Amino acid sequence: MAVEALRPWVRAVDARDAPALVALHRELWVDHDLRGGMPAARDDGVWQSYGELLQSQIAHRDGRRTPAASFEGKLGHFVVEHRGEVVGQVEVYLDRYGMSPKTPHVAELRSLIVSPRARGLGLGAALVIEVARVVYQRAGRRTLVAAEVLARNEALRFYDRLGFRTLERLVGVSVGPAKTLDVDPIDLRDAEDLAFLDHDARQQRAEWGDPRFDPPIPPTPELVRMIEGGISQDLIQSANVDPTRLREELVAHDRRGRGVAAGHLMASILGVPFAPEARAEITRLASDPDDPIAREGALSVVAEALHRAQSFGAHELLVRLPFLHPLGDDLLRLPHARPFSWILAAPAAKLLG
Ligand SMILES: CC(C)(COP(=O)(O)OP(=O)(O)OC[C@H]1O[C@@H](n2cnc3c(N)ncnc32)[C@H](O)[C@@H]1OP(=O)(O)O)[C@@H](O)C(=O)NCCC(=O)NCCS
Repeated sequence: MAVEALRPWVRAVDARDAPALVALHRELWVDHDLRGGMPAARDDGVWQSYGELLQSQIAHRDGRRTPAASFEGKLGHFVVEHRGEVVGQVEVYLDRYGMSPKTPHVAELRSLIVSPRARGLGLGAALVIEVARVVYQRAGRRTLVAAEVLARNEALRFYDRLGFRTLERLVGVSVGPAKTLDVDPIDLRDAEDLAFLDHDARQQRAEWGDPRFDPPIPPTPELVRMIEGGISQDLIQSANVDPTRLREELVAHDRRGRGVAAGHLMASILGVPFAPEARAEITRLASDPDDPIAREGALSVVAEALHRAQSFGAHELLVRLPFLHPLGDDLLRLPHARPFSWILAAPAAKLLG
């Protein structure tokens, strides 16, 4: 019995874990904030209501009795016990960024933390490996495990040791580049250019070794009609303006009116347990890295998106790019720009050894 209590035990979350989990989340998000991440709330009242929210979310979970029941739909939640105490946790979102059966599922790790008093004992690695084991069984041998790590976090080394590889980076920009080309919200006339941009961006990602997306689809007239349908729907939806969110596809046009770069801007106000600040991100930016006009277009999209993000109340725009896209270095040369985070991934099979 005494030996059992000493052995780390990774299991599904349980309603009785709520107080330990609130303490861990607070530790995690205050640390994240101090490293230049999202601003954590400092007010005890906010953490109290966050605790109540968490408690209600896991009220029906009984991981102590059924330790293997870690997933509910796409969401997994694991804890690690050491010496009979919950000292670490991780949440997981398991999904596929596409429709093709060849596209692997991705298990995104969220809120991974081991309490400082229990670090260096292999518990963080035990949590990640248990996630890998479960998602491998649920979603197949091609499944990837992914994580976002702040640029200023030594946990990068932790992922490195486990065999993760960098796929994307997020760069924070607060002073925009020059806007030399026209940039407008997407319009029906952009459909064909968008089909080509999307095709080339997918091809480029695949060549750069990012397996998470569907293979590129040749830009046929049928695909262009589908994109037109999507744009029309977005235009109808954007008529119902939600003042707490921004969601726009911005397209830069060269001097002949051809769409040469497109970026998807999203912004919202952070909810608990964060300070209620505006956060803005270009979640997808398509432009040919080898074409100087396309690069000018991409910088113009960033300039316009930053302007819109600032009008929304954000002081910084995060730009998500494939790790090898040279635009990342262009952006980092701007005044006050900073590396924000890295997106890393490893095949579940590799983590299982
Ligand atoms: C990152 C974290 C979860 C690691 O947990 P842990 O239980 O201490 O890690 P482990 O003991 O399993 O370490 C596994 C390996 O990673 C290395 N490692 C772990 N943390 C490290 C760090 N901060 N710096 C360098 N190496 C680290 C260990 O040395 C070990 O290497 P080894 O295999 O050569 O022995 C923990 O430090 C933590 O909670 N940090 C704060 C929150 C955080 O940054 N979470 C990640 C957000 S993406």
